[in-house]
Amino acid sequence: METTEEILARFAEVRAHTERLAAPLSPEDQTVQSMPDVSPTKWHRAHVTWFFETFLLAEHEPGFAPFQDRYWFLFNSYYEGVGPRYTRSMRGAISRPGAHDVADYRADVDARVTDLVDRVDGGTLEKLRPTIELGFHHEQQHQELLLMDIKHVLSLNPLQPVYAGAPRLPGTPDRLGWVGFDGGLVEIGATGEGFHFDNELPRHQQWLQPYRLADRLVTNGEWLDFMTDGGYRRHDLWLSDGWGRVQAERWDSPFYWHEEDGVWFEHTLHGTHPVDPALPVTHVSHYEADAYATWAGHRLPTEAEWEHAAVTQSATEENVADLDAFHPRAAGPATGRLRQLLGDCWEWTSSAYLPYPGFHPAPGAVGEYNGKFMSSQMVLRGGSALTPAGHTRAGYRNFFPPGARWPMTGVRLASGD
Ligand SMILES: [Fe+2]
Repeated sequence: METTEEILARFAEVRAHTERLAAPLSPEDQTVQSMPDVSPTKWHRAHVTWFFETFLLAEHEPGFAPFQDRYWFLFNSYYEGVGPRYTRSMRGAISRPGAHDVADYRADVDARVTDLVDRVDGGTLEKLRPTIELGFHHEQQHQELLLMDIKHVLSLNPLQPVYAGAPRLPGTPDRLGWVGFDGGLVEIGATGEGFHFDNELPRHQQWLQPYRLADRLVTNGEWLDFMTDGGYRRHDLWLSDGWGRVQAERWDSPFYWHEEDGVWFEHTLHGTHPVDPALPVTHVSHYEADAYATWAGHRLPTEAEWEHAAVTQSATEENVADLDAFHPRAAGPATGRLRQLLGDCWEWTSSAYLPYPGFHPAPGAVGEYNGKFMSSQMVLRGGSALTPAGHTRAGYRNFFPPGARWPMTGVRLASGD
């Protein structure tokens, strides 16, 4: 069990990391909302602060008063139980408070949370601990969103600005291998060790037929083969909704690719570069992942297959976000085990995002965190090169609509009955 000092050290580190990620961005960068799904950087910085203010300080700070009355309205994301809020798709219209005002808001809440945690007795700290822990993981989720979102913002700028200037990552082509699993009656879900979100409970049994998973992610080179073979022009490869999107939005390549004089280029947070065939393909929708799997004669894994495999292999975190590199890397040498599991790209599964059997959201507004989104979305597993270090785990259930392309997604093939 963490001591008060350890909790406060972690609080300071999580909060400082958000500010490190925002540091390369000007106040103008931090204000842009390039599409409805994207939130401005300064909104992310303020919203995670609002989370601590609303769910920790408002509930437990003696004589609580909000930092600014209207911030409650501006920085509530989707919590109906907290009250009305500003229109999500209009967040980019808010020029005030500015990025510097948000820094003042953050500093005020940081000081008050620190003071509260420092002052309470042991029994009260135990009551606060789950909310503080949720606040850490919530802020880490937004650290990834901040990077996803600013990647999209910068992608629309014809000057091709660079977020971070790390060198390109060298890649080595590598043959795809397979790892087999017996399946049978397995258990998935949170074990009770360490943090988990409510959607990872209850732990429960699943029956798995014998199956195989590809030992690495699909590469850009393989994706180019799919494109060359008419992958985006063959309706027979696509789910109906996906084919509709291909036609309506003229998809012909992954989200951040464009072609110049016969050469494909990819926008990254490190600038725009020719597509490296050895790197994992990324920023593809579930529809594209499914079409690729069909083209390759395979399928996507279920979330239970993925989790069972990751737990069986005691997967460890690799290539998550650090302050030098924010892009997936080529798989290392084959080892006979699954590579690139926790990091690189979130991996689309064929599983709809549904409650586990017996799932109950937490009471109160914080119960809106996950449960109410269990409709029309697909589960992704693993983590990405935009995920903060220490935030991945085998049981983590990420989710996005099947047409989403701006998250750092990728494809792992599955095979078997
Ligand atoms: Fe949030």
